[in-house]
Amino acid sequence: MSLLLTNIKELVHVEEVASKWKAGHDMKDIQILNEAYLLMKDGLIEDFGLMKDFSETLITDTDELLEIDCTGKCVFPSFCDSHTHIVYPKSREEEFVDKINGLSYEEIARRGGGILNSARAIQEMIEDELFESAVERVSEMIAMGTGAIEIKSGYGLNTESELKMLRVIKRLKAEMPVEIKATFLGAHSIPMEYRGKQSEYVDLVINEMLPKVAEEQLADYVDVFCDQGFFTVEDTDRILEAAAKYGMRPKIHANELGLTGGIQVGVKYNALSVDHLEFVGEEEIATLKDSETMPTVLPGAAFFLEMKLSPVREMIEAGLPVALASDYNPGSSPSGNMKFIQSLGCIKYKMLPEEVIAATTTNTAYAMDLSATHGSIAKGKVANVFITREISGYKFMPYAYGSDLIDTVILKGQIVE
Ligand code: NIG
Ligand code: FE
Repeated sequence: MSLLLTNIKELVHVEEVASKWKAGHDMKDIQILNEAYLLMKDGLIEDFGLMKDFSETLITDTDELLEIDCTGKCVFPSFCDSHTHIVYPKSREEEFVDKINGLSYEEIARRGGGILNSARAIQEMIEDELFESAVERVSEMIAMGTGAIEIKSGYGLNTESELKMLRVIKRLKAEMPVEIKATFLGAHSIPMEYRGKQSEYVDLVINEMLPKVAEEQLADYVDVFCDQGFFTVEDTDRILEAAAKYGMRPKIHANELGLTGGIQVGVKYNALSVDHLEFVGEEEIATLKDSETMPTVLPGAAFFLEMKLSPVREMIEAGLPVALASDYNPGSSPSGNMKFIQSLGCIKYKMLPEEVIAATTTNTAYAMDLSATHGSIAKGKVANVFITREISGYKFMPYAYGSDLIDTVILKGQIVE
């Protein structure tokens, strides 16, 4: 089956050759075609170009051709969201109120709230209920233009519940039309019963959880919340070393609460990404420069918790790539709206509209090992795109931060109803 989009006002982020990532000054070099067409066939991008160059001979299977006239509308590659925690038991708006009343995220966590609050609730939930609530969130994200999602465990914090979460992610992979990657985050918080004997919990993660996760092939990656008050660099080093034996590459939470050495230990184990990065100095930038690790900033969490902002401009000026993901989770970022993440990138981090496009597509695709198949409009890539309503142009997307501008979502060459 073929799907042809014609008269596209702006076909955004096309590439002749798919790039691995967009770094430094290249981040703002996004190619845009005005008055364009896009042809998708059997789930892949078959061809694109200017309307004036369009030839009917491109279409080979006329029996199964659907044509959509996109006059006045823009077409974008779907967002790739490389950092989420969307399998969770329930929302946590009571903590939202605690924060309004002056408690910090770390204070809430110390009192047994935060991640431990979700971990308690998850014990009670059966897999089906967790699955159904996650399906709703994934569906909401799809409607907001996302076509690839990384999902972490980390609200289990014991072997049984961590496996339960990862099995839910496995079902989502099989049943949802988006591309999904799974990350094992057993070391997300230290359970109350392990307070004061943290290394014993790290032992449990390494000796009991990891082997089971690997045996059932439940995770593509491994994550650790390496930060002040959570897991140390030594804990992280041990977990990443153990995970490497199972071929799991790290994608870790690092440098959200301090200059803790998280970036360095991530790079040491060739992390695919290091995420959060509110605290980044010259040393961290130098470490990232010589690496294959994607620096990933989570503007939703910084906005929701009113944290210090990551030095995104410095990283880009230093020639690094930067990715922006949602961190969708019930505690620090209760939204998977990647268009709003783009707006935050522009407004708070002084990124250009072109840079936030690169940061939420190609660079987040790289952070899930997907930049060969997702994250831009290139021949042979998976046909994941969305059509906007009639808008003035691509810059209107991050500018109109509160408007829903998506008209039609297409995943694997099929319209999602
Ligand atoms: O990425 N920083 C650590 N973990 C999550 C928060 C999870 C939660 O509070 O439930 C984050 O912000
Ligand atoms: Fe997170």
